[in-house]
Amino acid sequence: MNFPYQVYNILMPKTRTQYVCQQCGRTAARPMGRCPQCGAWNSMVEELIAPPATIRHSRSTAVRSTPQRLSEVSGDVEERLPLPINEFARVLGGGIVPGSIVLIGGDPGIGKSTLLLQVALEMSHQSPVLYVSGEESERQIKMRAVRLLRDANTGALPLPDNLFLVTETGLDAILEHITQVKPQLLIVDSIQTTTLPELESSAGSVSQVRECASRLRELAKSSGIAVFLIGHVTKEGTIAGPRVLEHIVDTVLYLEGDRFQSYRLLRSVKNRFGATSEVGVFEMGEHGMAEVANPSEAFLAERMVNAPGSAIAVTMEGTRPLLVEIQGLTSPTQFGNARRTPNGVDFNRLLLTTAVLTRRLGLRLGEQDIFVNVVGGLTVSEPAADLAIAAAIASSMRNTPLRADAVLIGEVGLSGELRMVGQMNARLKEAASLGFKTAIIPQRMRKNEPWQADIQVIEVRSLRQALDHALVEKV
Ligand code: TYD
Ligand code: MG
Repeated sequence: MNFPYQVYNILMPKTRTQYVCQQCGRTAARPMGRCPQCGAWNSMVEELIAPPATIRHSRSTAVRSTPQRLSEVSGDVEERLPLPINEFARVLGGGIVPGSIVLIGGDPGIGKSTLLLQVALEMSHQSPVLYVSGEESERQIKMRAVRLLRDANTGALPLPDNLFLVTETGLDAILEHITQVKPQLLIVDSIQTTTLPELESSAGSVSQVRECASRLRELAKSSGIAVFLIGHVTKEGTIAGPRVLEHIVDTVLYLEGDRFQSYRLLRSVKNRFGATSEVGVFEMGEHGMAEVANPSEAFLAERMVNAPGSAIAVTMEGTRPLLVEIQGLTSPTQFGNARRTPNGVDFNRLLLTTAVLTRRLGLRLGEQDIFVNVVGGLTVSEPAADLAIAAAIASSMRNTPLRADAVLIGEVGLSGELRMVGQMNARLKEAASLGFKTAIIPQRMRKNEPWQADIQVIEVRSLRQALDHALVEKV
């Protein structure tokens, strides 16, 4: 780590700002609700006008950089700080990369501050960590830390010495604290409360959020500090959400989950240092977020075997197969228009499977309200869950359960045919490891290789054949 480095290089000198339309590039001295050139609404964003001195300066720095041979570039490719929270490390691609900048987005109250305080507590055993909060006081954060560290058996655990807390929103002050603490990990909670005084616009506006994040990225790259930014996902409006930051940072993680359920999924949507769409599964409990090492088992824990309308799908979340229960319920419509209510599945996929069940299998779903629910607050967007969705609806409609020991995997086509989905071996293995005996899947074109899982595989061509195998009483 190159301490001491010049923090004030990162803070530009006081400058003027202008408002630039993000659609057409028209500039104005004052903010305007509507761009006079292209007519776009709320598109004017405050930007810094770089003074001539800065331009000269940047030219001289351009000369200072020198091309290096690939073989001579320092730094081991695999150099990462180990993170003892496995589910988190897996989403990052195996530990924290020094000098990387990671954005963690999510709805308010979902558990971002809690999870990152846990990361800070763990990492402070290795090296100094600075936790900057613009939302909570040091006292509040301490109370939370004590709660997280409290162990059921031993009472409160000792507090770490190397975790530094500060309540601060000004970026210049934050950068000054960094020169004092010299952390290896900086956590900024949240990027929406961080402000740069040069910009007139208020905290949380697009220009503030973007400018602060780029300064923190420069800090990360020049010093080797790993930076975690917390960002609230908000509806479109004056408060800028993590979307405007996605291209600035190296890694974007989203913490998802139903607020009324305890499971939380940490999902990577962009990662320069690992696979994307990897997930880590946590459960929010008394002492913060607990890792869920075997999520499939957890998601199936409350399942009622032999209940009509319950089907088991196997979805892939990144490289990890997950078994989820999909519930369907049909109920005669009361007021004319039949309703379709998906919870955790895509509305259009529900409409599609319903249409196929109606047209190809002759189920009279036109007069039925249909509810589909993914148990555990999960969201399943993969077409591989189509078959399970269709089976859950058909099972409820026929009032006959599906085979309790079977999983259903496959995409449903418009003609009622089943289509193969990717990574079938991984899905079958996961189902077998949880004790399922049968998998009903689409027929393969080439049958040269046997399936690599200890499970009976029934290959079928169509949704109708799949239901013939899956429903306990034949219809
Ligand atoms: P928080 O991390 O503050 O959310 P965010 O930073 O994403 O806005 O989480 C707040 C919620 O988590 C709150 O409803 C209380 C709950 N919680 C627990 O259930 N257990 C705990 O140990 C902690 C610290 C919080
Ligand atoms: Mg918070």
